[in-house]
Amino acid sequence: MYYRTITPVTIVFLLTMVGCAPKSSEPAPTETVLSQTQLNAITQVVKANATGAVEGTNSIGHVITDPIINADPSATFRDVLANTATLTGAIPQGTVVVKRIFLKNGGGNKADRSNVYVMVKQYAGYYPEGGDWSYYAIKYDPAVINANTPNGIIASALLTGKIGICQDCHKRAAPDFLYTTGSGGGSSY
Ligand code: HEC
Repeated sequence: MYYRTITPVTIVFLLTMVGCAPKSSEPAPTETVLSQTQLNAITQVVKANATGAVEGTNSIGHVITDPIINADPSATFRDVLANTATLTGAIPQGTVVVKRIFLKNGGGNKADRSNVYVMVKQYAGYYPEGGDWSYYAIKYDPAVINANTPNGIIASALLTGKIGICQDCHKRAAPDFLYTTGSGGGSSY
């Protein structure tokens, strides 16, 4: 009879198997949480002085008003900086990209600083609809911004994290949800 094969030895064997079940050797992925110190250190310029609609109808001035992003792209200059010189290929977790906005003065020159927009690359699966980036919209506050905090203060961010309005546009940019690559590849400018 078949049931006779289930002996105490079999039970011990089965229990041993359960105990030896393969355990995942991969550590659980953890979110890169942007610190103020890290943000302050983003100074490598990838693209400077972009103005006008550099990405056709996708392009915006990236100035937040209450807090809807909407501005005439011809009314601003944008500088893109990162913690790496170029933004090509597969972007590794921990990559931080900053976009600084400058308003134009009456003469059409770069003038007052405005808001800062930040993207931080996370682990695969963090936010697939957003290219696995976390997004920050940081209000420019002349009362607190200075040479030590050129990219603004994270605590004063208007929006942070998985932001639908950001990914909705950035999903159209290649590679990896970035418009600016600094290399001429992808949909860079
Ligand atoms: C209407 C489309 C649109 C929306 C919405 C949008 N972006 Fe962008 N973003 C762009 C374009 C186009 C560029 C390329 C540079 C430019 O034109 O100024 C860009 C550039 C950037 C950059 C520099 C890296 C790159 O991709 O070139 C960052 C960082 C950024 N955006 C963050 C954000 C954040 C954060 C939000 C949401 C709060 C957001 N963006 C919403 C269109 C958009």
